[in-house]
Amino acid sequence: MAWQKVATQGDVGDGAVIQVTVGGRQIALYRVGGEIFATDNICTHAFACLHEGYLDGHTIECPLHQGVFDIRTGEPLEGPVDEPLPIFPVRTEGDDILIDI
Ligand code: FES
Repeated sequence: MAWQKVATQGDVGDGAVIQVTVGGRQIALYRVGGEIFATDNICTHAFACLHEGYLDGHTIECPLHQGVFDIRTGEPLEGPVDEPLPIFPVRTEGDDILIDI
């Protein structure tokens, strides 16, 4: 595990989710209420990119079969998903956003 810079503050607006790639792994980066969260970007149900889904508060709805995850815990909440989504610790250093991956 190592902290890596993945984005800067201006890259992800409030209520938005973006995709970043770290060491070949796709990560979804979210900002909700000024707080930043990071999860795997690939749904645990099948191959779908969560950054193309619907972010509603602290939940992300998968665009393929509408499975829903809590982005704070990775817990599956609704739909066909039953495997949790990996999550990653986030911290900021000035303008930089880092995740521990
Ligand atoms: Fe995400 Fe099926 S691929 S719910």
